[in-house]
Amino acid sequence: MIGMDNLITGDLKNIQHLFKLPEFEFYHHDVSKFIHVSGHIDYILHFASPASPIDYLKIPIQTLKVGSLGTHNCLGLALAKKARILVASTSEIYGDPLVHPQTESYWGNVNPVGPRGVYDEAKRFQEAMTMAYHTFHGLETRIVRIFNTYGPRMRLNDGRALPAFIGQALREEDLTVFGDGSQTRSFCYVDDLVEGIYRLLLSDCSDPVNLGNPDEITLLEFAQEILKLTGANQSIVFKKLPEDDPKQRRPDIHKAKALLNWEPKVSRAEGLAKTYEYFKQLTQEELNRQPLEFAKK
Ligand SMILES: NC(=O)c1ccc[n+]([C@@H]2O[C@H](COP(=O)([O-])OP(=O)(O)OC[C@H]3O[C@@H](n4cnc5c(N)ncnc54)[C@H](O)[C@@H]3O)[C@@H](O)[C@H]2O)c1
Repeated sequence: MIGMDNLITGDLKNIQHLFKLPEFEFYHHDVSKFIHVSGHIDYILHFASPASPIDYLKIPIQTLKVGSLGTHNCLGLALAKKARILVASTSEIYGDPLVHPQTESYWGNVNPVGPRGVYDEAKRFQEAMTMAYHTFHGLETRIVRIFNTYGPRMRLNDGRALPAFIGQALREEDLTVFGDGSQTRSFCYVDDLVEGIYRLLLSDCSDPVNLGNPDEITLLEFAQEILKLTGANQSIVFKKLPEDDPKQRRPDIHKAKALLNWEPKVSRAEGLAKTYEYFKQLTQEELNRQPLEFAKK
């Protein structure tokens, strides 16, 4: 088992438990560059990408490169090794959706030159390239469209709503909601997602499959839930909505149910409680860590 990461947004601390496994090896490598792995490979899971808006806005070119060149390199490796490959796509390929909930047959509403285009279009290209390797080379490919997922080991300061709210509650700051908070998201607990990805990997479905939790909530309600969970008595403050922020997001998961016999099992209350337990044990230094900065290259 090989883990490969250039650690641009990742942290070795998250996988330190894996280093105890005799079969685990770690390669510090940028998958946008040629990938060499010796020996046989059965499965490749290509998940490398900056994944949070505050990161991919700061490193737009690396984001485009890992979705395009990185995907091409991973597909090339899969072809050379006769391995099956699963690529991590995203609900962001639907952009600011005009169809609700989002089914796999919806083509999306993405602004290619807006600030989020670097992520959305990289993932759309990733899907196109993966499908081309399937149809042209007959490669065994799987595409998962992941909707907002959360759980322990998220980075507190990565700009996503859930760690941002919990971090603010723990630091006794007011919670920041963008816009009027009426925009919706649907949050899936990480264990449910992992089970769905595993089932998709072992399935024979090469078309994209949505995985996520259809339990939709407005961001204002979500902030209120976090305040209730943490027992914090701070206020909620409102800030300007970022450009091209999707107004609604809920997966249609009929396809995953029918094909994979999968649906999420962990309620938001249960998942949030587990996630809060993790964040509560962070040190003061970790609680106050600033968002990542990146060298320009
Ligand atoms: N978490 C979500 O809600 C969500 C939703 C939709 C899609 N996804 C996708 O799932 C995947 C994993 O997301 P995550 O939330 O676990 O993010 P994460 O930041 O925890 O993991 C992504 C990893 O990719 C690594 N990486 C980035 N560029 C790389 C490169 N060029 N070469 C090698 N490694 C590189 C980062 O260092 C990081 O460790 C991403 O592809 C993301 O787009 C996640």
